[in-house]
Amino acid sequence: MVRIVIFIAINTTYVFTTTTPPPPPNTFHISHSQQWGGCGEALKAFGLGRRVESRKARVLDSSSFEYSAISCRAHSASITDYGGVGDGETSNTKAFQKAVNELSQYGSDGGSQLFVPAGKWLTGSFNLTSHFTLFLHKDAFLLASQCLSSELTASSSSSSTVSQDINEWSVIDPLPSYGRGRDAAGGRYISFIFGTNLTDVVITGDNGTIDGQGAFWWLQFHKKKIKYTRPYLIEIMHSDSIQISNLTLLNSPAWNVHPVYSSNILIQGITIIAPITSPNTDGINPDSCTNTRIEDCYIVSGDDCVAVKSGWDEYGIAYGMPTKQLVIRRLTCISPFSATIALGSEMSGGIQDVRAEDIVAINTESGVRIKTAVGRGGYVKDIYVKGMTLHTMKWAFWMTGNYGSHADTHYDPKALPVIQGVNYRDVVAENVSMAARLEGISGDPFTGICISNVTIRMAVKAKKVPWTCTDIEGITSSVTPPPCGLLPDQGPEKIRMCDFPSESLPIDTVELKSCTYASMKYL
Ligand SMILES: *[C@@H]1O[C@H](CO)[C@@H](O)[C@H](O)[C@H]1NC(C)=O
Ligand SMILES: *[C@@H]1O[C@H](CO)[C@@H](O)[C@H](O)[C@H]1NC(C)=O
Ligand SMILES: *[C@@H]1O[C@H](CO)[C@@H](O)[C@H](O)[C@H]1NC(C)=O
Ligand SMILES: *[C@@H]1O[C@H](CO)[C@@H](O)[C@H](O)[C@H]1NC(C)=O
Ligand SMILES: *[C@@H]1O[C@H](CO)[C@@H](O)[C@H](O)[C@H]1NC(C)=O
Ligand SMILES: *[C@@H]1O[C@H](CO)[C@@H](O)[C@H](O)[C@H]1NC(C)=O
Repeated sequence: MVRIVIFIAINTTYVFTTTTPPPPPNTFHISHSQQWGGCGEALKAFGLGRRVESRKARVLDSSSFEYSAISCRAHSASITDYGGVGDGETSNTKAFQKAVNELSQYGSDGGSQLFVPAGKWLTGSFNLTSHFTLFLHKDAFLLASQCLSSELTASSSSSSTVSQDINEWSVIDPLPSYGRGRDAAGGRYISFIFGTNLTDVVITGDNGTIDGQGAFWWLQFHKKKIKYTRPYLIEIMHSDSIQISNLTLLNSPAWNVHPVYSSNILIQGITIIAPITSPNTDGINPDSCTNTRIEDCYIVSGDDCVAVKSGWDEYGIAYGMPTKQLVIRRLTCISPFSATIALGSEMSGGIQDVRAEDIVAINTESGVRIKTAVGRGGYVKDIYVKGMTLHTMKWAFWMTGNYGSHADTHYDPKALPVIQGVNYRDVVAENVSMAARLEGISGDPFTGICISNVTIRMAVKAKKVPWTCTDIEGITSSVTPPPCGLLPDQGPEKIRMCDFPSESLPIDTVELKSCTYASMKYL
């Protein structure tokens, strides 16, 4: 990547890499109401002293650089143009909402990009718009504000009045394919960065950080004080052509990245970090999505690193929207209590054509795991896994047909999931407690399981029986330790027998363009 940074001092000559003429002198329109919007001790009015700081920051932000994206934008702005202040205390909720509102007018005129300079930008949730790029500088931290609606903060009298006014986390409807929120029945808090019914959206940066400051939420969840489902960090619904790349995501209140009912999604170069004991901090959860590519991601979390989903029980069956054509490659996962890649447990709309390649997991509970239950319906089929390196695992292979966890008691006990065609090849694992625990459903076996070229070195304290298999059917070749009787060995010459498709998916042919951001280009 070519990086051209031009520092511009107040009242000195402007230097540009493009033919854009020098901009007019910087002017500011900062009103108190525009800057307002924090809560608790973070609530601070804006003074004149700040004005100077802001001006300085504005000028120092000036830079021009290149980055790769699915589309480039004709219009540029910095969050400081909307009165944003990156001091870690001032609320920028109004600034972000205003920025996106104003930039949305360029959707049909070449699109727009919003730059977030170095700094700590405290903000409540904000929505994205179409033909829009959010770009975070490498030293930019977007910090999720913890201001809640009055319901959650009513006990702290000092801040409740303020909270009622600002309501930084609105409550939105449950996902139709889930019928209810995951933490509580009914609605859910809107995600920190949210978008719905959009097309062509990029969230990227030079490894800038989005920090969900989730500790507060994890505590409320553990104390069972949560009235609605916790927010996710990034959720994109009903959208097409999405790129989320080159960012660090910290401490999400719950799931980190949740594309749902969407298509053509590129997720690249994301580092996700949350405490390994934090509740439900799944890394990336493609949910009822088509054509998704997840690559070069590093995830340490308190739940599955990647969880592939498609709706829950009768709600997911009725909605009927599968996740299909999903590529996951070069993923590194650390998650001691969860899976590297989980398929389910909510898979009622179906999961088909998942290709996982070059996966590394360290100190993780299991590899590519299937979770389902009677009542889920749906299917998991045509799953291909090639090249996994696993260090310190409880189970290298794990399939669970009795996961339970129902949305409510109205699920259909006759709605049996179909699990068919699950291929694993070229796996090396060490320090493993149990090679495999494969449990299908009685009367509904999981079929077409293929495992080849697998070497599992067991832990010193491994379980005596390395494989347990019930209600499954399949074949193996060149697998050690020797698999269970339900997976007969086809002989060493079949070492390459488990399928992995050679033709690429449409999402693999997406080309990134080299885009330029020049901050002094005026709107
Ligand atoms: C991410 O960063 C890497 C390394 O700086 C760069 O090569 C790549 O083009 C970037 N990718 C995207 C999609 O922004
Ligand atoms: C964001 O979008 C959601 C869903 O459309 C809406 O409920 C919410 O009010 C929007 N938030 C803002 C700040 O516009
Ligand atoms: C968003 O798209 C979904 C699915 O196409 C549709 O049902 C819904 O009405 C749309 N919402 C808005 C606000 O346009
Ligand atoms: C991005 O930042 C995270 C957190 O500081 C770091 O662990 C990771 O290595 C960085 N990634 C790149 C590509 O620089
Ligand atoms: C078996 O898997 C290893 C990686 O685990 C790979 O290097 C090797 O080429 C595979 N063997 C065959 C015959 O495909
Ligand atoms: C092997 O796994 C056990 C847990 O089962 C762990 O305590 C130990 O540190 C691991 N050993 C190595 C060498 O990674």
